[in-house]
Amino acid sequence: MKVLVIGGGAREHALCRSLSLDPSVTALHCAPGNAGIAEVAELHQVDVLDGAAVTALAQRLDAELVVVGPEAPLVGGVADAVRAAGIPCFGPSREAAELEGSKAFAKEVMAAAGVPTARSYVCTTPEEVDEALDAFGAPYVVKDDGLAAGKGVVVTGDLAAAREHARACGRVVIEEYLDGPEVSLFAVTDGTTVVPLQPAQDFKRALDGDAGPNTGGMGAYSPLPWADPKLVDEVTQTVLKPTVDEMARRGTPFSGLLYAGLAITSRGVRVIEFNARFGDPETQVVLARLRTPLSAVLHAAASSTLADLDPLRWSDDAAVTVVVAAENYPGKPRTGDPIDGLAEVAAEAAPHAYVLHAGTRREDGAVLSAGGRVLSVTATGADLVEARERAYSAVGRIRLDGSQHRTDIAATAAEAAAGRS
Ligand code: AMP
Ligand code: GLY
Repeated sequence: MKVLVIGGGAREHALCRSLSLDPSVTALHCAPGNAGIAEVAELHQVDVLDGAAVTALAQRLDAELVVVGPEAPLVGGVADAVRAAGIPCFGPSREAAELEGSKAFAKEVMAAAGVPTARSYVCTTPEEVDEALDAFGAPYVVKDDGLAAGKGVVVTGDLAAAREHARACGRVVIEEYLDGPEVSLFAVTDGTTVVPLQPAQDFKRALDGDAGPNTGGMGAYSPLPWADPKLVDEVTQTVLKPTVDEMARRGTPFSGLLYAGLAITSRGVRVIEFNARFGDPETQVVLARLRTPLSAVLHAAASSTLADLDPLRWSDDAAVTVVVAAENYPGKPRTGDPIDGLAEVAAEAAPHAYVLHAGTRREDGAVLSAGGRVLSVTATGADLVEARERAYSAVGRIRLDGSQHRTDIAATAAEAAAGRS
């Protein structure tokens, strides 16, 4: 199968890595890719937001499957354009991607489908904002209604800061605060059949101990030894399937990857958000554990044949991903610095630990930083303790001036699991 992946982050590197190891994949292309993806796929330049250009590229490459990674092209209708040309495409339509593109729309679908989520108000005026903030009290949760690359949400005890974020965003969703651990659960769906993947946990805050601002995600691990073994089934029945059914009922079926961001509260599971694509960095740990060849899964979703797919097979290994970010991320990042130690990790840490590139580019033989989240290191091991050791040992070999990473990814879960065994 000839496959074209659209995007150029660590998520796309993880997808391309898995596809490059998949015997059914005869040719692997990525646009625009990055310096790391170039090692496993042929790169092409394309405006990823231009559906006609992506379709033309897919036709020229004779692609039999197009996988659209990021949310912006999905919300922009790129998957519709590819499908209209008769090419199987993994990723929801423009209308279905609104589950991520508009938090207000997602709330409306959840209400119609009876999916448990935080109570919320959609607000546009300062008066509405004050009323909603007052109704819920602190801590305040204020969300930009539109796409904001994981940075549109402010959770704060400071009323002035909550008001200021609402004013800066324009249209916001203000909602009740959800306590309890967060879980990311992904499902692959063709619009009818829903196949959940293994759950993962993401670390959204920039600094150790969940301090600092929200980011796109600073690390992840899977499995979740502390989670109820029934969690995946429960969420499939109460969240994923009802949402997919409701989208089909509206005549805008959702096919592709449905990402449920969940809070496990004292009153039960609640949806924090939906995304319409694989999460980053959770994808890195989930795909590290998937044994079923990825192309078969994505192609079945893209061609409405998921019901015929054999049950997914998973490794018992644990996986941990640590993101290495540029100085000043999630603010405007410092870029253009050389990244050293990549060859060392490839030579000495593989196959248990490897680097997935995000914001990198190659210039005159050197790999340079080119974004906020620069790369992530993923490692597997018999348990979280071993996977963590391998991940952090590889992170220690990477040198990038000014870079930052959290030192506590999966630490609590690894300790708790080790204490029990
Ligand atoms: P979102 O972009 O909606 O996933 O929000 C980003 C992060 O903000 C989440 O991963 C949570 O850590 C936090 N967050 C969002 N909504 C809530 C909420 N209702 N209660 C508590 N924390 C929240
Ligand atoms: N890791 C969070 C996201 O992908 O949105």
